[in-house]
Amino acid sequence: MCGIVGYTGPREAYPIIIKGLKRLEYRGYDSTGVALQNSGLKVYKKKGRVAELEDMMIGKDIHAHTGIGHTRWATHGEPSDRNAHPHSSASGKLAMIHNGIIENYAQIKKELSNKGYTFSSDTDTEVLLNFIEEIQKNNQCNLEEAVRIALKRVTGAYVILLIDETHPDTIIAARKGSPLVIGIGKGEHFLGSDATPMLEYTKEVVYVNDYELAIIKPDELILKNLGNEKITPYVQKLDMELAAIEKGGYEHFMLKEINEQPETIYDCLRGRLDITTGTITMAGVEKEMERLIHANRIVIVACGTSWHAGLVAEYIFEELCRIPVEVEYASEFRYRNPVIFPGDVIIAVSQSGETADTLVAIEKAKDQGALIFGVVNVVGSSIARASQAGAYTHAGPEIGVASTKAFTAQLAVLTMVALKLAKQKNTISEERYLHLVNELHAIPEKVAIVLESAPLIKALAEKYKDAEDFLYLGRGYNFPVALEGALKLKEISYIHAEGYPAAEMKHGPIALVDENLPVVFVATRDSFHEKVVSNMQEIKARKGKVIAVINEGDTDTAAICDDVMTVPEANEIVAPMLSTIPLQLLAYYIGLAKGYDVDKPRNLAKSVTVE
Ligand code: F6R
Repeated sequence: MCGIVGYTGPREAYPIIIKGLKRLEYRGYDSTGVALQNSGLKVYKKKGRVAELEDMMIGKDIHAHTGIGHTRWATHGEPSDRNAHPHSSASGKLAMIHNGIIENYAQIKKELSNKGYTFSSDTDTEVLLNFIEEIQKNNQCNLEEAVRIALKRVTGAYVILLIDETHPDTIIAARKGSPLVIGIGKGEHFLGSDATPMLEYTKEVVYVNDYELAIIKPDELILKNLGNEKITPYVQKLDMELAAIEKGGYEHFMLKEINEQPETIYDCLRGRLDITTGTITMAGVEKEMERLIHANRIVIVACGTSWHAGLVAEYIFEELCRIPVEVEYASEFRYRNPVIFPGDVIIAVSQSGETADTLVAIEKAKDQGALIFGVVNVVGSSIARASQAGAYTHAGPEIGVASTKAFTAQLAVLTMVALKLAKQKNTISEERYLHLVNELHAIPEKVAIVLESAPLIKALAEKYKDAEDFLYLGRGYNFPVALEGALKLKEISYIHAEGYPAAEMKHGPIALVDENLPVVFVATRDSFHEKVVSNMQEIKARKGKVIAVINEGDTDTAAICDDVMTVPEANEIVAPMLSTIPLQLLAYYIGLAKGYDVDKPRNLAKSVTVE
């Protein structure tokens, strides 16, 4: 949610910032801008994508060794040139970019207005910037001190980067609740919402923590807390290669990421699942084994696609471990005054590790004594750090805004955790355990087989692209897959789609069915198969179009469908990792056929760091 980039050092800042913004564009892309120290502070900004800013900059003097840049996902104020960041202070001497929301900005704005300030944008950011300048003026203090005083007053979430015309090589940065990474080069520093803008320059990074403030010059990085005490920066080595964030010959990141799934699931299992010994090694689980196996209940908190992974996990944990599980939308859980017992285990599922609702939810549960176990993709992210134990999904950077490979990696991790706990608790027979270990191990190869049906799914997309609504239905482990399929279609093709448990359809949604409504069934062979087939018949009887994900060779089911997408047979516990792939492809190809930007769907952003 908003991408921020900064550079100070001997190189030209502008090309580094622009390249960094393009990599962070997945975080928001409604407007963009840069501020450069170029014989005084110069701010250039514009509604639209980074490429449009680049066009606007042709012919301008872009020479600068220090600068900041921003790509926005609007919170306060519509996407427009004037609401784009960076914002300039009233004196014109300061420029600032911001990711997050200042919740009490209206009060501060009123105070500043009473003192005669006027504002040229609708943003909370401009208010905070002028508040900082006002403090600096009143207290006759330096910028760093003014930022510290201002941040003690504000509520909300932020990462801010500020530059000051009078100190042209310095960037002041601060964070609470939104991510900030500082890359350390030789005589230069890089800043970003994640590490991707600095990948080709340095592998040494510092993840800034909440309530920390950084004063960054080319050859100096000072980290302090809001009490003005110095903190020793903890420098970490980045384990990410440039190739991982490039399209690698694919037309879109989404297609690349869908196609990477045999590899990403394999990477997720690698080093953990050993089929020769039947063991699952997960340090994060072993570390907290006692608390995990004696959990009174597991509460899974997540949002969106990660919430769907949590729903699949609910079925798996209850079945294998006999522990009661609740799956909560993090946004509801955090505000609901939930009952949490010290014996509860909270599993936070998040690709980005930065989702504000999930982060706050787990902090709340941690305060009440629950154990927090994170299932996170981005190493070093806020949720990973806030968790007491956990397991990374190792799916690699996911850049397409719609989550694909992170979902299947979450399922792989959650299945391994459940199997490991079930074995330790003795709630699974040795035979079933070994069978499932082998089934899990076979998934990457089977995913590769599913991907071969892409041309067929592309043809289906052409056939159904003009439908106005879709219904997605499934039962048991495949019910969350139906929800996920509907979400993918909504996000990428802007077609209204609803997901339901197949049996629930007759309690209302069946009223929608007519000859124009495509109904997508997730109908692989499992314990519920016959019942799902009956539900298909109910749709056919009302002239609905039935498209189904079925197992290869299931001619009986195929015979009652209008169209099918096939996946190899698999145990129902691991089958969602297969049945979800055709639905990802269907959404992708329908979005493509309708001419939409599938990597950056309208109104969305990847990392939702506002609540
Ligand atoms: C859907 C999607 C979102 C995210 C949700 C949670 O394709 O990407 O629904 O799943 O915003 O994000 P994370 O997993 O980063 O916490």
